[in-house]
Order: sequence, then C-alpha cells, then structure tokens
Amino acid sequence: MHLVFLGAPGSGKGTQASLLVKELGYSHVSTGDLLRNEIKKGSTLGNKVSDVIKSGKLVDDSLVLELLKANCDLSNNKYIFDGFPRNIEQAKALESEILSSHFSRAIYFELDLGVLKERLINRRMCKDCGDIYNLISKSPSVPGKCDSCGSSNLYQRDDDKEETVGKRLDVFKETIDPVLEFYKETDRLFVVDASHESASVFKAIEKAVKP
Ligand code: AP5
Ligand code: MG
Repeated sequence: MHLVFLGAPGSGKGTQASLLVKELGYSHVSTGDLLRNEIKKGSTLGNKVSDVIKSGKLVDDSLVLELLKANCDLSNNKYIFDGFPRNIEQAKALESEILSSHFSRAIYFELDLGVLKERLINRRMCKDCGDIYNLISKSPSVPGKCDSCGSSNLYQRDDDKEETVGKRLDVFKETIDPVLEFYKETDRLFVVDASHESASVFKAIEKAVKP
C-alpha cells in the first residue's frame, strides 16, 4: 500500500517520512525536495520555479506532475508521496497518471496552524543529506553539525523566512479541503494528531499502515 502524506507546511511530513523509510522500508518522494534539487542544480526548471517557491505560492501543476513522474518508481510497493497532491487537480492526476491500479491511503497531519510558524522559522536542514532539525525541538547534538552525515552545512530554507511562511499557510488553507474530501469519499483518509512529539506521531502512523 502506498501512502500520500497530506498536511500543512511544517506539520511533520518530511520528519515522519524519513522515519518510515528507516524503520519500515518505505521509499519516499517529496516534490518540494525535487524542486529544491532542481534549483540547486541551476536547471531550466529550477530557474523557472525558484521565485515561485520563495514567494510561498504553488508551482504549476503540470510541471510538478512531470517532475514527479520522472522520479518515482512504484516497483517498491511501499511508497510515500510527500507534498503531492496539494490541490484536487493533483489528487486526481496522482490516481490516473501515476498510481492507476495501485492502492493508496492518505495520512493527514492535523495540527493547529498557529504552532506551525514557530516550527518552520526554527527549522534547519542539512544541505548534504537533507536531514531535518529544529532549533527548539530537535537541535543537532553538536551545534551546526548534521548528526547523520557530519556535514557543517545546516541551512534555513528560503521559504522558511517569516515573510513567506504566512503565505504558504494561506495557500494550504485555500486548497486542502477538496483534497481531504477526495480521500474521505473513498474511505482512504486517516487522520493523525500531529501536535504530539515525533515518536508518538510515528506510532499513530505505524498503526494506520499495519496490514
Ligand atoms: P514542500 O517542501 O513540500 O514544503 P511543505 O509542504 O510546505 O512542507 P514542509 O516541508 O515545510 O513541512 P513538513 O510537513 O515536511 O515538516 P518537517 O517534517 O520538515 O514544498 C515547498 C514549496 O515547493 C511549496 O511551497 C511550493 O512552492 C512547491 N511545491 C512542492 N510541492 C508542490 C506541489 N505538489 N505542487 C505545487 N508546488 C509544490 O518539520 C518541520 C519542522 O518541525 C522541522 O524543524 C521539524 O524538526 C519540526 N517537527 C517535525 N515534527 C515535529 C513534532 N512532532 N513536534 C515538534 N517539532 C516537529
Ligand atoms: Mg517537507
């Protein structure tokens, strides 16, 4: 069964995805990571989307869909889609153009949006391996150094600056309801309380995905 992670910016999708990869053998694809990688490479696509991401708006559906198609391989029957779909058009495209007959279930990371600003502004990421930290809730053991790969390249995402975070949360509020309804209608929506500490959220997801 494949998983579709739905949730506001900062709700913990990437953090939990990396735990499911390590502990339960899932593969993970994040459209945000794919887009940031294009920007890092300086590709034509990266240059096109850089300002959109910095502004906190969504990138054009067809661009993201093509990028996702080129970067997912469903031969592992346990895939996590993180950050896709963001709107109802993407939800339908994921079913018809990528998953087709594969079964999937959505996990919604439910959380009071008020706490997200603080999570996002305090997030730091490793430029080399993508590990996710937080200056308040999950600081690296040695300040400024990645616990996983030892790199000193911890950085703040451009779109985690205070001025962009509010816009990202607004976009989320405007687009999420039809997506939740889409999975609810087919009885494939599982809601987790994402306000708890990371280990408890993981346990709740583990329960949801057990056969
Ligand atoms: P994307 O990279 O997908 O960002 P997002 O959805 O906004 O989500 P985040 O990555 O910010 O949060 P997360 O839920 O992964 O939280 P995390 O685990 O890191 O997208 C970025 C941009 O790309 C978009 O704005 C858009 O422009 C574009 N884009 C991407 N996909 C697109 C698409 N499909 N269509 C169009 N455009 C697209 O955790 C956050 C912080 O909280 C961390 O510091 C972490 O340590 C901490 N934390 C995590 N869990 C907990 C916990 N339980 N308790 C306390 N702290 C916690
Ligand atoms: Mg993420």
